[in-house]
Amino acid sequence: MVFTEKQEALVKESWEILKEISQKIACVSSPQIAPAAKGMFSFLRDSDGIPQNNPKLKAHAVKVFKMTCESAIQLREKGKVTVADTTLKYLGSVHLKNGVLDPHFEVVKEALLRAIKEAVGEKWRDMNCTWVEAYDQLAAAIKAEMKEEA
Ligand code: HEM
Repeated sequence: MVFTEKQEALVKESWEILKEISQKIACVSSPQIAPAAKGMFSFLRDSDGIPQNNPKLKAHAVKVFKMTCESAIQLREKGKVTVADTTLKYLGSVHLKNGVLDPHFEVVKEALLRAIKEAVGEKWRDMNCTWVEAYDQLAAAIKAEMKEEA
């Protein structure tokens, strides 16, 4: 997929809204939406109820968002997403160890895209496919690595 200059500019602009939306991503990607995911986060496992403002969940959401941004820029520059070998190995083992399954990637994807959509308003139409493609390629790389390591 080839990006237009306009799409690239929009993706870069999104970095600026990161702070604003990270809270939102953390909320929707939290166990509220994915009860099964709760047990995966070691710091939530023993907590009662739903964490509304958990800093670690927020930190994870920011990481997912940043990595997706980087992937989008790579797509533009190189035509594909490449995750550095050591990073990919680490990501594969962390998620494998925590019992993350393929369907969870869809849950996080929905949450991420919904939060970005709400934050960017009408610009969403121009950047929608950019985000989808970037996330899908990144998630595919992590899932493949998890299968490799399993
Ligand atoms: C840990 C990124 C999807 C659950 C991490 C870490 C990164 C990361 C960078 C390491 C954090 C650290 O060591 O500081 C990503 C990316 C994703 C993704 C880029 C998608 C493209 C998911 C999904 C789930 C998940 C779908 C499950 C709902 C976790 C858990 C940890 C983790 C449980 C360990 C956190 C802890 O116990 O501290 N992720 N992640 N991740 N991720 Fe993800």
